[in-house]
Amino acid sequence: MGTGGMHVLITLEGIDGTGKSTLHSGLGELLVDLNPVLTREPGATWVGDSVRRAIAEQADPVTEALLFVADHAAHLANVIRPALADGRIVISDRYTDSRYAYQSVTLENSIPEPLAWLQALHNGWTIVPDRTFLLIIPVDVALERLAAKSGREHFERKEILEKVQKNYLELARSDPSRFVIIDASKEKEEIRPFVAGAIRQFFLSSRSRRQR
Ligand code: TYD
Repeated sequence: MGTGGMHVLITLEGIDGTGKSTLHSGLGELLVDLNPVLTREPGATWVGDSVRRAIAEQADPVTEALLFVADHAAHLANVIRPALADGRIVISDRYTDSRYAYQSVTLENSIPEPLAWLQALHNGWTIVPDRTFLLIIPVDVALERLAAKSGREHFERKEILEKVQKNYLELARSDPSRFVIIDASKEKEEIRPFVAGAIRQFFLSSRSRRQR
C-alpha cells in the first residue's frame, strides 16, 4: 500500500528452454526489497491444473486455447487485480503474449485468423503489461537445454518453437515501447541483474510520474 494506486505489471516471455523460469525466481531475490508478487501462467490453481491436463491429453486445439484463456481470467481475478490494487509490483512468468505466440501456431488449422481471434477474446477485460521482457535464443540451443529435462510437452518441437519465436518477435515489433528483447544465450549472471535493474528503474520512474 501507499503507492497511490500505481500499477506495475511486468511479464516474462519466450519459448521453452530460454531460462525464463530461472530468471523469474532470480528476480524475486534481487528485487526482494520491492516485495513483488511472483506469479505464473498457467497458474497454480485447479484451472491451471486443467490446462496442464489438456496439454497432457492432447486436447483439441480450440479446447486447449480456451482453457489457457480461462486460466488467465482466473489469474487476473484471483492474483493480479488484487495485487495491483494493493500497490504491489507483479512479475508474471508467461502471460497473454504466450497465447498470442503459441496458440497462433496451434490454432493455425482450426481457426482462420488465430491472432485476431485470440486478441478479440482478451479485449475489454485483460490488463496489458507495462513491460514485457522477451527472451530470445536460437531454437537449437533451446532444444538442447530441454533435452536435459524429462516429460516434453507437445509445443517443444523445433518447427513449432521456430514459429512461436517468430510470432513473439512480431508482437515485439508491433509494440516496441512495451517489449524489451533479451539475448537469452548470455550468462544468467548477466541477464538477471540487467532485468532486475530495468524493473527497478521502471518502478521508480512510474512512482515519480505519479507524484508529480
Ligand atoms: P510452462 O508452465 O511455461 O512450462 P513448464 O510447465 O514446462 O514450466 O508452460 C507450459 C506450456 O504451455 C509451454 O510449452 C508454453 C505453453 N503455453 C501456451 O501454449 N499458451 C499459454 O497461454 C501459456 C501460458 C503457456
